[in-house]
Amino acid sequence: MRTFWQTIITLIFALTGVLSLGGVAYAEDAPTRIWAQSATATSPDGHIAVTFTLDSEGFANYAITRNGAPIIANSRMSFLFSDQDPMGRGLTISDVQTTASASTWEQPWGERRFVKDEHTELVVRLESGGGSNPMVDSPLTRRVTVRFRIFNDGVGFRYEFAARPDGSEWRIMEERTEFNIGQDGTAHWIQAGDWNRYEQIYKRTPIDAVSQAHTPMTLVLADGTHVSIHEAALVDYSGMWVTRMEGRRFVSTLSPSPDGPKVVRSGAFNTPWRAIRVTSSAGALYDNDLELNLNEPNKLGDVSWVKPQKYVGVWWEMHLETKSWASGDKHGATNANVKRHIDFAAQYGFRGVLVEGWNVGWDGNWFANGRGFSFTEPYPDFDMKMLSAYGEKKGVKIIGHHETGGNIAVYEDQLDDAMAYYQAHGIEAVKTGYVADAGGLIDVGPNGKQRMVWHDSQRSAQHHLKVVQVAATHKIAVNAHEPIKDTGLRRTYPNWVSREGARGMEYQAWGVPGNPASHVPTLYFTRMLSGPMDYTPGVLSLKGRGGRDLESTLARQLSLYMTLYSPIQMIADDPENLAKFPREMEFLRVVPADWAETHTLLGEVGDYVVVARKDRNSNDWYIGGTTNGEERTVSVPLTFLGAKDSGARYKAQIYRDGDAASGYGPDRHDIVIEEKTVTAADTLTLRMAPAGGFAVRLFPIK
Ligand code: NOJ
Ligand code: CA
Repeated sequence: MRTFWQTIITLIFALTGVLSLGGVAYAEDAPTRIWAQSATATSPDGHIAVTFTLDSEGFANYAITRNGAPIIANSRMSFLFSDQDPMGRGLTISDVQTTASASTWEQPWGERRFVKDEHTELVVRLESGGGSNPMVDSPLTRRVTVRFRIFNDGVGFRYEFAARPDGSEWRIMEERTEFNIGQDGTAHWIQAGDWNRYEQIYKRTPIDAVSQAHTPMTLVLADGTHVSIHEAALVDYSGMWVTRMEGRRFVSTLSPSPDGPKVVRSGAFNTPWRAIRVTSSAGALYDNDLELNLNEPNKLGDVSWVKPQKYVGVWWEMHLETKSWASGDKHGATNANVKRHIDFAAQYGFRGVLVEGWNVGWDGNWFANGRGFSFTEPYPDFDMKMLSAYGEKKGVKIIGHHETGGNIAVYEDQLDDAMAYYQAHGIEAVKTGYVADAGGLIDVGPNGKQRMVWHDSQRSAQHHLKVVQVAATHKIAVNAHEPIKDTGLRRTYPNWVSREGARGMEYQAWGVPGNPASHVPTLYFTRMLSGPMDYTPGVLSLKGRGGRDLESTLARQLSLYMTLYSPIQMIADDPENLAKFPREMEFLRVVPADWAETHTLLGEVGDYVVVARKDRNSNDWYIGGTTNGEERTVSVPLTFLGAKDSGARYKAQIYRDGDAASGYGPDRHDIVIEEKTVTAADTLTLRMAPAGGFAVRLFPIK
């Protein structure tokens, strides 16, 4: 045993880069080869350091510091398999390398047009088994590489498995990546492994009171560092939950599979990236492209057919129960009603009209069933050909809908025909839906028998990507509801425009209970870190089902177009209601759904947020502010407009809560709309009512 452990201390060698080995730093280009047990590399700005250590038992560990303070204390990495020895104890290191990289890439749409990717890469090649380790008896050497990318605002790492030496499949029973949080602090999180998917009210607890959380999970540490734990590029793998073991030590738990092993892969493969954002403020946590940078570049080529847009739809009325998805007297998707929405969209220049409940299958029980859905057969009172032509003449496109009731087997059987049907009718975006409780997706196994899978299982990851890929062959964009979580795959497949994956506006309609006012400023710093959300704002009547009052001011509804990003953004209320608010509709007519720049100006997780975004297609800027249940007044410096002394003048159109407004009171519609002339040297002082907010449009004065 002793000789074996001594031999472990032999194998790290490295050549260049921002790398230190065994605690000794080596200058770039130093042609030194050295044997050691640990390797450290730092972010380009030197603030974040990652140390990889092979401990005395041959376990792989990593740790992260920021300015020397612990963010992730020493944390183990290991794998369990259903048919071979674990890969944990007794690893050896065969190689260590670092490289530095800096580039900029362009997004077809997004929160910002240009994304900077500046990082240091630390690559550690490991071997396991091969008879050299008396603790395990795998006869063949297994190889895995851990690749770290260290950015100025976060760290990603993944495991790159070489093909299994005997040629058989990798059957992963569990991945055990630890996240041993380095300090006390507060966690903002939702429960994983429970009956609800991701549509939960976020919990705010001490870190050591979390049980099992979905990612992104956001942490505010004692020293003020803001951290989020998530993953990037979840492809053909099971989604990661994080389970607290004791204290602040979390371990990954992969979403289960009915087959036993949670992930089955053949040949060589890479896991998703484990992605940890590390920043000094809440705002910097959001203005952060970690997961996008960790994803592969666009694989679809020209995606000019993906159109950022605003849309209305045959939708809110179903949630109010004044119309139904099912056929009959209350049927919503009738020719007359769809025309009504198309006319309204045309009047405001909105590109899309979502139509739900147009296709056969909604009668009877479709929830967690979906067996009756046809994706090519309309109800008799819905004429797809006539309506799509009617819209076309007015510059309006129907947005298709595929509710599956969670039945991915039924959907996949019809998938290509379903997308071809939409394409034939000029439809360029589809909303999908997987309404079934967590773990309730219906699949058909290799033996032809039904089996149930989780919404974030490997099977579900495969399914969602398949839908996006098939949709792309028909030039269709996808907006998934009850989806798998977002892990930045929009970079690789830019037709994956949006998704739900949290409590959206529909909960305000139902009120079971509705979303608390803290929900939006929590989402901004949690769920929205993963990517766009189809929250469906814009209920200007502030009324839900049965006349229920929404906990929101009118100005807050406008703020959501900046504080909840989606490149396809709904104006959810019924046209009849919206028409009663011409001044607010003027704002919704012009507010963009696609941005050139995004800067979070102010905010604290769960409390409030103020963000400035620049239009992609003009020099106009928009600011949105959304608060929780507390009234607050914020000072918003306009320095994002450019040099303070440039003298450039802007007209600021301000939509703010009136003095009497409160999201909880009778004066929810009290709004002040005013104009000011401002420059970059000015500061706007704006009051947000409880459950209120504001929206500002700034455009250059010629
Ligand atoms: C739940 C979705 O979130 C909602 O938008 C949709 O209307 C219903 N499912 C029906 O598909
Ligand atoms: Ca939903």
